[in-house]
Amino acid sequence: MLTRGPDHDAATAALWAARDPGTFMGLVHHATLAANSHNAQAWRFRPTAEGVAILPDMSRALPVADGDHHHLYASLGCAAENLMLAAGAAGRSAELGFVPDGEGRVEIGLAEGGGADPLSDAILDRQCTRSDYDGRAVPATDLAALEAAARVEGAEVMLITDPARIAQVLELILTANAVQLSDPAFAAELKSWLRFNAAAAIETGDGLYSAASGNPTLPTFLGRFMFDRFLTVGAENDRYARQVRSSAGLAIIHSDRDAPAHWVQAGRACQRFALQATALGIRHAHLNQPVEVAATRPQLQSLLGLGERRPDMVLRFGYAPAMPRSLRRPVSAVIDV
Ligand SMILES: Cc1cc2nc3c(=O)[nH]c(=O)nc-3n(C[C@H](O)[C@H](O)[C@H](O)COP(=O)(O)O)c2cc1C
Repeated sequence: MLTRGPDHDAATAALWAARDPGTFMGLVHHATLAANSHNAQAWRFRPTAEGVAILPDMSRALPVADGDHHHLYASLGCAAENLMLAAGAAGRSAELGFVPDGEGRVEIGLAEGGGADPLSDAILDRQCTRSDYDGRAVPATDLAALEAAARVEGAEVMLITDPARIAQVLELILTANAVQLSDPAFAAELKSWLRFNAAAAIETGDGLYSAASGNPTLPTFLGRFMFDRFLTVGAENDRYARQVRSSAGLAIIHSDRDAPAHWVQAGRACQRFALQATALGIRHAHLNQPVEVAATRPQLQSLLGLGERRPDMVLRFGYAPAMPRSLRRPVSAVIDV
């Protein structure tokens, strides 16, 4: 099956459904529904005496787009946040620590007691929506709710709604995107994570499904050929510029320090931002090029007056219909027991 259709719809419907958050497998299921870089799912989950450990899976790292593993640890933070929220929904309190030994890991301690955070209700509905938005502004009360939701220890969000300031950040997005797309190693890595049709997306349960980005579905050989032949900086930058201009604003996640423990916290802030947006009917999508390219990150930092704080993630937000969902590998493939 090459086109989006019943198979993909059935797979996503089965995936984006609740499991009992009172069990280890149920908690991991909700964790794996978190946002993560390239949908590479570079994580493993292990039951511990205190709760759950989330470990990096370096075999799924992105050496070109994410050479320092910032996004990988941020993705662990996104998963940790979902897991903690799911635990809360099952009446358990959760506390997160980062253990720097070896490759580093997230340790979540669980205890009886504690209440549900309403953000947990949005876990099954959240998606990155990579389409044009409708240009409507987000009310001030909702902007305040987004800022409050994204605040965690050591990380928070800066919302930008001033068109002149958005235009300045857009310039950096376009500059960084041109740098990345002109790098054959970046393009090759990205291509290896693209799933050009439903059959490929279902078979791997990972990667970036064409239809979820608003692109046509194609046989894999043809998709790869079209990618090589027709993906140009000019066309991609035109699309990003249009998408940003159609958005209500930009959201910059930033953190106290540039180190893995803080990247995890940035991921938690990002996931909480995304869940709160979802709960308010607000869509979001990532545009992380300027934090990924070494030359533009300090420019973004100084443009936004962040001082020593690290800009971790760049997102846009606004209003639009839902897009096709993304898939995940089964829980059994990511547990480490
Ligand atoms: C740290 C991080 C970096 C990401 N960078 C990008 C990005 O630059 N561009 C993009 O379109 N999506 C980006 N994403 C979104 C992922 O591609 C998305 O979460 C994944 O494909 C799964 O889709 P879903 O979030 O809709 O479930 C990023 C997500 C995370 C957590």
